[in-house]
Amino acid sequence: MSTRLLAFSGSTRKDSLNSQVLQAAIAGAESVEGCTVTLINLNDYQMPLYNGDDEQATGMPESAQRLLRLFEEHDGLLLASPEYNGFFTPLIKNTFDWMTRTEPDGKVGLRVFKRYPVALVSSSPGLMGGLRSLMMVRMYLGNLGCLVLPEQVAVTGQKMKDGKITDERLEAQVKAIGAGLAEWVGK
Ligand SMILES: Cc1cc2nc3c(=O)[nH]c(=O)nc-3n(C[C@H](O)[C@H](O)[C@H](O)COP(=O)(O)O)c2cc1C
Repeated sequence: MSTRLLAFSGSTRKDSLNSQVLQAAIAGAESVEGCTVTLINLNDYQMPLYNGDDEQATGMPESAQRLLRLFEEHDGLLLASPEYNGFFTPLIKNTFDWMTRTEPDGKVGLRVFKRYPVALVSSSPGLMGGLRSLMMVRMYLGNLGCLVLPEQVAVTGQKMKDGKITDERLEAQVKAIGAGLAEWVGK
């Protein structure tokens, strides 16, 4: 049976720690037979900061509609969530907020997230590795109806070098997040 997962980082920074950690989670997912992962960069789905007047004038941005289609074409999401002041990034919030709105055909985007499987990882230079952002993004995605898997791993940047996780045990934990999502979705 084939499983298709979508993956993105909540940071589009060139040297994003989260994008690096996401690579390990993707490797874990792809180690599960039949699982393929589509990695995207949110730079390719840019959206203005949500404003109700803009929505009334021009509707859901084409980029949000394209991303919704991708969600529909996949079976689950691997998300790497950076931490800004104990929270997840405005990029993540704005992207999902737009996608929950009404599309030109009258369908409400929010429907796509009902019971949508999601697995979470994070990274930050601090010792907590962005753990607080995971608690918040878990709550937010739950509000959208997503099924966020209970396992999560936060990786401190102190255990990363040259784009890789240096601690083998930690790397295995991150891979297990990806594999866990692929296995669960594949059942
Ligand atoms: C506005 C802002 C607030 C931040 N707050 C936190 C924080 O609360 N906890 C933390 O561990 N790191 C915090 N950081 C540092 C980020 O974790 C760090 O910049 C990280 O590298 C961002 O993720 P990225 O590498 O994937 O871009 C903050 C950074 C910014 C820009």
